[in-house]
Amino acid sequence: MRHLIWRKKPGDGFCQNGRMTHLANLRRLGLFDARVPRYTSYPPATAFTVQTGADFQAACIKALDPATPVSVYIHIPFCERLCWFCACRTQGTTTLKPVDNYLRVVKDELALLRATLPSGVRMGQMHWGGGTPTILPPDMIRALAQAVKDVIPPADDFSFSVEIDPTLVDDAKIAALAEMGMTRASIGIQDFATDVQKAIGRAQSFAATKTCVDSLRAAGITSLNADLVYGLPFQTPEKLARTIAKVRALDPDRIALFGYAHVPTFSKRQKLIPDAALPGEEERYALARQAAHAFVGSGYQAIGIDHFGKPGDSLTQAANAGHLRRNFQGYTDDTCPTLIGIGASSISQFAQGYVQNASATAAYIERIAAGTLAGHRGYEMNADDRLRAEAINMLMCDFEIDLDKLRNHPNADSLAPVHAEILETFADYVVPTDKGLLITDAGRPLTRIIAQRYDGFSGIAAQYSQAS
Ligand SMILES: C[S@@+](CC[C@H](N)C(=O)[O-])C[C@H]1O[C@@H](n2cnc3c(N)ncnc32)[C@H](O)[C@@H]1O
Ligand code: SF4
Repeated sequence: MRHLIWRKKPGDGFCQNGRMTHLANLRRLGLFDARVPRYTSYPPATAFTVQTGADFQAACIKALDPATPVSVYIHIPFCERLCWFCACRTQGTTTLKPVDNYLRVVKDELALLRATLPSGVRMGQMHWGGGTPTILPPDMIRALAQAVKDVIPPADDFSFSVEIDPTLVDDAKIAALAEMGMTRASIGIQDFATDVQKAIGRAQSFAATKTCVDSLRAAGITSLNADLVYGLPFQTPEKLARTIAKVRALDPDRIALFGYAHVPTFSKRQKLIPDAALPGEEERYALARQAAHAFVGSGYQAIGIDHFGKPGDSLTQAANAGHLRRNFQGYTDDTCPTLIGIGASSISQFAQGYVQNASATAAYIERIAAGTLAGHRGYEMNADDRLRAEAINMLMCDFEIDLDKLRNHPNADSLAPVHAEILETFADYVVPTDKGLLITDAGRPLTRIIAQRYDGFSGIAAQYSQAS
């Protein structure tokens, strides 16, 4: 069925007679100025409040259907090194003492979860992130994985992914992870250029990274992701081209290409990075395009706004089948409707809404010691939120709005003025289709900005990263 959406004719306003260049047009639409959420959730975590905490979390867990597997995320907020560019919630340590203490509390949290969870719930996916989960020695890796499995036994097609710092892992740790069922690994690279690494406080040789990749493959890991960042200090097209060549040589199955989020008021370490060393807006945009072209040119498929996958990779297949989803780890092929977050600052996602555990490690430990779940702030979804969340997820994953799918929501028509406004404002980059509307290839850099039109919380002042 063709859906009619009113649309002003293209060419209005600034973009008359093709005088305005593509880049100037993107600038006009906010690409370089807008600060927008990454929409790894809707509502974004900035909308969470302390009114929705541990009680809501417990009610959502108790209501889980044992027939539907859940995903589990474990946050390990420790690193041996603290890279200056990093905006992740983590703390540096040179000893395992705080890590060991933390894992004891995680086990206590798992015991509280066991007491709340209906019997029979199974785990479809487990993800360890951080920080650096590979700070754990092999015995702690085995003990933690077993503790989770004891509380939520793995489903038949269980998968287990781990974020790995190639400079803080060895064969014994990889063997322990593989023994506990690791199926996917994500390694941090960022950039191989020595001066860029120096400016972000993160030394990492190609040789060490290659050794890690070879060990992971030898351990049977068939899905390997590499994290890269563009927009870093002193990055240039020439240096980025050399980094890309090295990444290609490692032959990852997926690549995540993140824009550097420079938010020094939130992440104090970033104050060590001089603003003057950062590429300008247009240079940064060009770096992103350069990397995207290079990866697509070497056989990867662009997925969502910042991922690339080989044709056989499960993320690529999910994107092509229309099953791609967005969650706190970014893009995922995870179909579990529930994500249970364990550890400090972890966010749980339920059909009813979100709950984030206390963020500071000390506050998290205090809550668990008091014998309650660690949920500290969250958000209970209403019908309007669910509709907006689905529209935003469609744009972030498929670049389109499918009105037939939105009609599953009784209030779908309430978004009609938003669709029309998007078609008018972004006339050069969004086209009406039989399904609804579609962001063109040229308009994809604007995806987060366009998605924000559906965001009922966009008025909340927040420290979001720049859209480009
Ligand atoms: C938990 S970290 C990586 C895992 C591991 N600790 C490592 O360093 O290899 C997850 C990823 O977030 C990305 N990241 C962290 N801070 C960022 C920032 N300020 N802007 C963009 N991406 C960032 C990096 O690509 C990083 O690899
Ligand atoms: S990039 Fe990885 S190792 Fe560096 S501070 Fe962030 S989480 Fe820790």
